[in-house]
Amino acid sequence: MTGFVSLVGAGPGDPELLTLRALRRLRDADLVLNDALVQTDLLELAPKAQRFYVGKRAGRHSIDQDGINRLLIRAAQRGQRVVRLKCGDPFVFGRGGEEALALEEAGVAYEVVPGISSAISAPALAGIPVTHRGMASGFAVVSGHAESAYGPILDGIVPASLTIVVLMGVRTRGAIATKLIARGWSASTPAALVHGASHPGSFTWVGDLATLGEAVFDTELPGVLVIGEVVSLSNQIATSATAHPAAAERYL
Ligand SMILES: C[S@@+](CC[C@H](N)C(=O)[O-])C[C@H]1O[C@@H](n2cnc3c(N)ncnc32)[C@H](O)[C@@H]1O
Repeated sequence: MTGFVSLVGAGPGDPELLTLRALRRLRDADLVLNDALVQTDLLELAPKAQRFYVGKRAGRHSIDQDGINRLLIRAAQRGQRVVRLKCGDPFVFGRGGEEALALEEAGVAYEVVPGISSAISAPALAGIPVTHRGMASGFAVVSGHAESAYGPILDGIVPASLTIVVLMGVRTRGAIATKLIARGWSASTPAALVHGASHPGSFTWVGDLATLGEAVFDTELPGVLVIGEVVSLSNQIATSATAHPAAAERYL
């Protein structure tokens, strides 16, 4: 038997937002390597698999990237069907590209199973369309992890010309708001922080650039920051919390 690795995107967390291919790969898996933000419900969809946590906790890697690559390669060489399960999409701030290159170099058969990135699903589930005719004809997705990553990108965006979506930006939200205002964005530009999209306990803070830095939350759930006029639509469009009950019942 030849082993095989599937680099699978788990979507934002709710198992109903997995793709059918992701579900099939989980059901068939012998081994699942998962990240910190992957919900445990999803792992139950892989009943035959041995599970191995390779995520980060408190900022520390339980195993480094080279170690993960080696695990993937060795398991496939032993003939196992391996699922490398990552939140959202594996190629959006997920180091999926690095794993694909390592598998390629080792001559291991693999595939990529795209997932719904939180960059679009978190705003959508909070009733925020990232593009909207007359408001935003594009959106930029950046990492808020470090100024060196988001600074040059934000500097190059004409104020209010598109929607900005920031992943890993909860901690740096104040610095990002200050930077945008200094670059000419209005302090009253609507902004939202969508925490734990599709997770139980999900909630959304809505305000503006002037108040973003002081926004206070009592949650450990991951958050996506959305900045732009489109955020103002969130009080008119159904959210995952406000969707009419018939929408879910219809499919039961
Ligand atoms: C390392 S990045 C991985 C992104 C992932 N590959 C994707 O496409 O969504 C982790 C960041 O994704 C965002 N994130 C992931 N899942 C989320 C969710 N359910 N709700 C809100 N933000 C989420 C947060 O900004 C978090 O800090």
